[in-house]
Amino acid sequence: MATEPVIIDCDPGQDDAVALLLALASPGDLNVLAVTAVSGNVPLELTAANARRVIELAGRSDVPVHAGCDRPLLRPAVTAEHMHGQTGLDGAGLPDTATALADGHAVEAIIELLRERPSGSVTLCPVGPLTNVALALHLAPDIADRIGRIVLMGGAAGPGNVTPSAEFNIYVDPHAASIVFRSGAPIVMLGLDVTQQALVNADRLAAIAAVDTPVSRSVVGMLDFYGARSRVNPSAGSPLHDPCAVAYLLDPGLFAGRPCHVMIEVEGTHTLGRTVVDRSGRADTHPNATVIDEVDAGGLFALLTERLARLTA
Ligand code: RIB
Ligand code: CA
Repeated sequence: MATEPVIIDCDPGQDDAVALLLALASPGDLNVLAVTAVSGNVPLELTAANARRVIELAGRSDVPVHAGCDRPLLRPAVTAEHMHGQTGLDGAGLPDTATALADGHAVEAIIELLRERPSGSVTLCPVGPLTNVALALHLAPDIADRIGRIVLMGGAAGPGNVTPSAEFNIYVDPHAASIVFRSGAPIVMLGLDVTQQALVNADRLAAIAAVDTPVSRSVVGMLDFYGARSRVNPSAGSPLHDPCAVAYLLDPGLFAGRPCHVMIEVEGTHTLGRTVVDRSGRADTHPNATVIDEVDAGGLFALLTERLARLTA
């Protein structure tokens, strides 16, 4: 079966790291052409280093990591060390990276890979702020028609997690998100509505720990650290956001959603960064995204645990 060429744009971040491991553990399904780093959870220098630390953990130093934008298009940089720790990958127990960055800015790499490959064949999987993707679309408008699909973690039809209105990835760079959602590229949006159903609880963490490999030990350490800070409901567990986007690529049958028109608030005092999800058609415009709002969480964690066990490098 043909593998799906994918570019993962991320801001590692513990949940980004697990998403990368899930993708790299699935070479029969995904051909990770490149990993591109963006400023988000922590500054770019750290997200770019963390991405390389994770590909080394996976034994996949062959995958190029490109550094991208070190700040949002217009807004001041917002980071989340309080959630991810000063390194952005606290709990991972990983050494400093020994891999050099790939040549070329992430935005150039995204444009070149989309132009080199057959039109419609490459998937973009952004799981951080959308600055790199938006700038690529702005610099090379021709790529909008060449993107196969954009499967992203971000946004929320319901409440936000960084303000009452906005989810972090969209809030950090709402102007970038607006460019992406207005690009015409096919979008699958996995926002908080679904990722907050993907809860890491004691049983699921124990199942990952039972794999008992360097990868699983690092994942448990990361999820312990991140979970203690991202928990919505102490008794229910902590949401695992970014792996949902990769899991959707691997097994879309685990998820359910519907076509909606999604608009991005770029000016509101209290609503900046909100993804306004029109499920009623009131906006009188065609749907620009499939908004996912259900997941088989048990199936998701079974898939994640099974794939992580394959990484025995
Ligand atoms: O709101 C969750 C998102 O913000 C995740 O991508 C997490 O890594 C942070 O970037
Ligand atoms: Ca992220």
